[in-house]
Formats: sequence, structure tokens, C-alpha cells
Amino acid sequence: MNEHDSGRIAGVLQADGLVATEDAAQAEVIVLNTCAIRENADNRLYGNLGHLRPLKEANPALRIVVAGCLAQKDQGAIQRRAPWVDVVVGTHALPRLLDLLRQAEREGPQMDVREYTEVFPSALPARREVAHHAWVQVAVGCDNACTFCIVPLVRGPQRSRAMGDVLAEVQGLAREGVLEVTLLGQNVNTYGRDLTVPGSSRKPLFADLLRAIDGVEGIRRIRFVSPHPHDFTDDVVQAMATCERVCEHIHFPLQSGSDRILRAMRRSYRAERYLAWLDRIREAVPGMAVTTDIIVGFPGETDDDFERTLDVVRRARFDAAFTFQYSPRPGTTAGTMEGHVPPPVVGGRFDRLVDVQEEISLERNRDLVGATVEILVEGTGRKGGAQGRTRTNKVVNVPGGLDPGTFADVEVTGAHPHHLTGHLAPVPVGA
Ligand code: 5AD
Ligand code: SF4
Repeated sequence: MNEHDSGRIAGVLQADGLVATEDAAQAEVIVLNTCAIRENADNRLYGNLGHLRPLKEANPALRIVVAGCLAQKDQGAIQRRAPWVDVVVGTHALPRLLDLLRQAEREGPQMDVREYTEVFPSALPARREVAHHAWVQVAVGCDNACTFCIVPLVRGPQRSRAMGDVLAEVQGLAREGVLEVTLLGQNVNTYGRDLTVPGSSRKPLFADLLRAIDGVEGIRRIRFVSPHPHDFTDDVVQAMATCERVCEHIHFPLQSGSDRILRAMRRSYRAERYLAWLDRIREAVPGMAVTTDIIVGFPGETDDDFERTLDVVRRARFDAAFTFQYSPRPGTTAGTMEGHVPPPVVGGRFDRLVDVQEEISLERNRDLVGATVEILVEGTGRKGGAQGRTRTNKVVNVPGGLDPGTFADVEVTGAHPHHLTGHLAPVPVGA
């Protein structure tokens, strides 16, 4: 979501006539688009603002903007701690960015941290890092209350975009040559619960949205992040199984394999149910790749709880996992819970989890050696060849040059925990 918003911020500034620069000393406007999900982002913001101070002193015309979730969280504290910040723009106020910049030029420091999204940033121009891929926001905010998570506090309750708006955006992107879209929402599979279909009492559902986008000519791949396991209903599984363009990959955040900890996290599923869902999904969509998020060291996590997480990880056989050390966030229920786990214990568990998962990721990737996979080329790999992604979201490196935005069939020859290597598959005779 942060990356999506950064693309909109860059798009708005470009539309206003600014040009991107790599050199901060040349910049007329510097925007720090922040994340609040873990504590180290906080520390980095104030460190970075400290580094920008001499630039502002040397060039008073420079405008410094703090945007994103930390802007929403820290509000007035940012300009109190760093009075050289010109604009603080919260998560719901991005469409006002240019107004705020102009006002700051006339009247001095400005802040807009309104609590509610009135205009989706999707209405703003976007700058895309990769020409053939686009993030498409389908909803903002989250109605869950996972006890570790600051997102509902900084992004507010869920608000879905009208299905027609999303569809129109995807059609427009397809006309611009976009081949792959990633639908974005904090809890993407509850899309539509806050909407009604005009003229009926029915609510549009995430499965309806997938089906509608699957019909957009020119879009070859559809992805979405992040679903909550609890809301991954059978209709979504069926839509995935039947929609040709919806890719065989789900991000399915586990968070913990201990039922006791899941309860304390206020995650409504339990380990066995989670594993049963995975079986059902894999059965319905053969070849499905599954990635996950796991938090280590939640308050009160014992060695036994952690062993249960390892057990689920071994049984789930994820293709990859994003692993996090628990970080207390202000305003969350877990932030004040007892049972703080000492950092060296958390570190030890974290390293063990990463080792177990790397082994599994490698095994999963080895299973693909000898197979032919379709990649969408994204650019140049570290070793100079082409780099692309499979439908299952695995990175593949291929020797030789291939244009970004082209598809190629690749025979997989090598497996590593985080990527595959291969060469162009021979074209069958008569093809
Ligand atoms: N500490 C550590 N990790 C967290 N996440 C969310 N909040 C926290 C926190 N307080 C992780 C979760 C989530 C991912 C985006 O970030 O695993 O799924
Ligand atoms: Fe945070 Fe995701 Fe839970 Fe919402 S569903 S509170 S965004 S972890």
C-alpha cells in the first residue's frame, strides 16, 4: 500500500511539472512516505529528517513533506520535533498534497491528518516503476482488530471502491499496455462488505471483482494482497480456480502456529483449521504457491508456542515466508500486554524459523527443476541476464537479453531458496 501511495505522490508531483532527481541537494520537494507497521520505521523517520535539516537551512525554498502512516500516527509531534518539515499529510489526505504544498509556501507549515478517506488516491495520476505492472487499490482500511497491528489506527475502517471504478481503472491500465495488476487492500477479500450494488440489497464480493477483472481484455495476470485466512471463502477459491488470468499464488498470513497465541492476537482461526484451508485451496488450484507472514516473540510466546509455529511451517510447506520480530506499537492492545519476550530469545527463535523456512523454500523450488514455466520479464538480473516472474510469483533468472514486459517460456535448471534459474525453452516443432 505504501508503494502504491508513493507512485501516486510521484505522479501528482510530476503532473505538476516536477521531475524526479536522485540528488537530494537538487530537489525542490522531498517527500518521505512512511510506514508505521514496526518500530524501526519510527526511528528511521526522525534520523532521516535530521539529515535533511542542513539541506533546508542551505535552501529555504526546499519543501519537506512527511506522508503515510507515521504522519497519521505522529501528527503534530512531527513538526514539533522537526520544525523544518513543511507539510504533514496523513493517509486519508493524499489528494490534498498539492494544495498543502502551495499553502505552505504562502503561510508556513501545514498539516492534514483527517480521519476518513473521502477521495481515493486512485483518482490521482500515478507514476509506475514498471511499465507493465500496476497496483490497483480496491479498498483502504481494515475492520479487524489483530492485537499487534497498528493498521486500523492509521488507515481507519475499511472503505471499498465501487466495483465500476476499479474496473474502469483496470480497463484504462490495459489500454496503456499494463499486463499485470495487483489488487490491493489491507484485508482484500472482505472487499465490498461496506458497499451495496445500486438498485439491489446485494453486496459486491471479492469473487465478483476477480471475475469482472478476469474479463478485461489485455490483462494477462491478476494478483491480490493481502487476504485474511478467515475471509478466504469458497467462492474466492472457486473464482481462482476458474479465472484464467488469476495467478496461482496466495499470500496467506499465518502470524503464529500456536492456538493460544492466535487467540491473544485476536486472529479468529486456529492452526488445524488454517492447514485444512490450505489443503482445500491447493486441491482446488493445482500448483498454487503459498507465501505467508509470521511474527516471532508476540507477548507471552513460550518455547512450546514457538515449536507449534515451526510445526505448522513444516506441515504447510510455504514457498516463502516474511518473518518479523514482534514490535510493540502504540495504541494497540498487545502494546501493553505482559510477557515481554527477551530480545535474545526472540532473535534465536527468529533465526531458527528462517533456517527451517529456507530449507523448505529450497525444496519447493527444487521440485520445479525440469519444468517449463511462463515468465513475465521485469528487467535485468544481478548477473546481467533477464529477470522475470512466474505466475506463482517466483523470480527466475535467464541468461541473455529479453525485453521487459515480454512473456517467455523457460525451462527451470537451478533452484535456490529465493529464486530459480533457467534457459529459454525450445519452441516445439510446428508451434
Ligand atoms: N510487529 C511485528 N510484525 C508485525 N506485523 C504487523 N504488525 C506487527 C508488529 N507489531 C506484520 C504481520 C503482518 C505484516 C504486514 O507485518 O505479520 O501480516
Ligand atoms: Fe492488521 Fe491485517 Fe489484522 Fe487488519 S487483518 S488488523 S491489517 S494484521
